[in-house]
Amino acid sequence: MNIVIVKDYYELSIQAAQIVAAQINKIKKSVLGLPTGQTPLGMYNELIKKYEKDEIDFSQVITFNLDEYYGLSPLHPQSYHYFMWNTFFQHINIKKENVNMLNGITENIDEECQRYENIIQIRGGIDLQLLGIGENAHIGFNEPANVLKSRTHLVNLSNSTVKANSRFFNDIKEVPRQALTMGMGTIMKAKKIVLLASGKNKAPALAKTVNGLVSTRVPASLLQLHKEVTILVDEDAASRI
Ligand code: PGA
Repeated sequence: MNIVIVKDYYELSIQAAQIVAAQINKIKKSVLGLPTGQTPLGMYNELIKKYEKDEIDFSQVITFNLDEYYGLSPLHPQSYHYFMWNTFFQHINIKKENVNMLNGITENIDEECQRYENIIQIRGGIDLQLLGIGENAHIGFNEPANVLKSRTHLVNLSNSTVKANSRFFNDIKEVPRQALTMGMGTIMKAKKIVLLASGKNKAPALAKTVNGLVSTRVPASLLQLHKEVTILVDEDAASRI
C-alpha cells in the first residue's frame, strides 16, 4: 500500500483530483469507479474546476458508481443517482450513456447485479477505482461480516452505517436499510485503487485497514492484497496509523 498523508481536506481534494486528471489525460477512454458521500465532494469540485479551465476532457470517460440505495428511485434527492448528477456529472462533458449506476428500484435484483458485472467487463474493467471508507471500515457498502460476497449484490446496511448516513436525511427512519453494491471482488479487480479518508472519525478504521490483519470484519483491510493501492489521507485520518 502506498500511503500518502496530506495536511487537510483541501489538500486531499486537490491531490485526488490530480490523480484522476492524470489518469484521464493519459487514457482518454479511462474507466473510473466512483464513490459518493461527503469525502469525494471536494475532489469532484476540483475536477469541475479543471474541466472549466479546459484541463480535462470527460467526453470519452466511462464511469461506474460503487453503490446505490435499494428502494430509492434515481429521482429521489438522497439517491446516489441524484447525488452524482447534481454534484458532478451535470457540470462536466461526460456522455450520459457512459455513466453507469445500479438501479435501486430494479424488479430483479440478481439480473441487475449481473448486468452491472457484465458491463464492467465489456468496458474492459475499471482502470481507476476511487473509494471512501466508512467508520466501520466498509468500502462501497461491503459491511463488516464473517463472510463477504465477491460480486455486485444486495446488502443489509449495518446499524452504524444507517446512523452515519442519517445526516443526509430528515429522519433516520427514512434511511434505506438495504443497498446494491459492487462486491469486494469487483473492487479488487480494478487496475488501480485510491482510497480517500479525512477526519478524526476515520482514524480507527484507517489504522485497522493499514496496520491490522486482513479480515472480512475490516473490509478495507482486503486492500492490503491489491498491488496498486494508494491510501490518500489527511493528518486527522492518519493520526492512528
Ligand atoms: P463519507 O462516507 O465520505 O460520507 O464519510 C464514506 C463511506 O461511508 O464510505
